[in-house]
Amino acid sequence: MTISAQAKALADRIRSASRAAALSGAGMSVESGLPTFRSGSRALWRNHDPMTLATPDAFARDPVLVWEWYRERLRAHGSAQPNPGHLALAELERRIATFTLITQNVDGLHLRAGSRDVIELHGDVRTSRCIRCGERVETPLAGEVPPRCACGGLLRPNVVWFGEALPAGAYERAYEAVAQSHVFIVAGTSAIVFPAAGLVEVARAAGAFVVEVNPDETPATSRCDVSVRAPSGEFLPLVVQHL
Ligand code: APR
Repeated sequence: MTISAQAKALADRIRSASRAAALSGAGMSVESGLPTFRSGSRALWRNHDPMTLATPDAFARDPVLVWEWYRERLRAHGSAQPNPGHLALAELERRIATFTLITQNVDGLHLRAGSRDVIELHGDVRTSRCIRCGERVETPLAGEVPPRCACGGLLRPNVVWFGEALPAGAYERAYEAVAQSHVFIVAGTSAIVFPAAGLVEVARAAGAFVVEVNPDETPATSRCDVSVRAPSGEFLPLVVQHL
């Protein structure tokens, strides 16, 4: 089936669906110029050890190194723009009665694209919190490293590090949305980090039409009704065009 025919098939399903959901990963932001974690030459985990940057122990051991890395990512997020894939998902939210976008991304590009019903399953880098008093603040882009709270405590990014719990209620809301969906789109994720990747099985159990959008195969591919070998920034706008 051609990419265009797959886009038309998904649009047909969406047209008759009152409830839909999507799970996005770092691949969604590739066409905005941001690296993924595991694919491509710029993959973050190819050039950095996550255990030295994205765990509570790493932060306790070297908060300066961790903050320098997150500040670099935050600056890259700030100069990136939402791409046609982000904009297409925001348009789907306007066209479907209930559309919940569950993202593993912390770059904020879905919100900047206009999506509103967004669950940031792995937190965000735009805000930080004090490890002493819990105060939440806008992440300071400049100034001392590591940044400190007014109380003097260290600030940490509001992202979910390996080994940490997801934001309170986030997974439960995502589960509820997917368990009631008629269509579930999985875009730009390697589908190997749980519990996010487990939402594919939740969608299947709900009888949803499950579509993967990824230039490469993933462990979720065989569990999807359709797996589209295309960049999300190319395929998702085609779906909207066919609506
Ligand atoms: N369009 C769609 N998918 C793409 C594109 C594109 N243009 N370019 C690459 N991809 C795919 C890759 O083939 C890969 O399968 O995006 C996927 C990105 O996978 P990862 O780098 O593993 O990113 P992600 O799935 O978001 O990682 C999940 O792992 O490290 C943790 O917390 C981090 O949220 C992250 C989680």
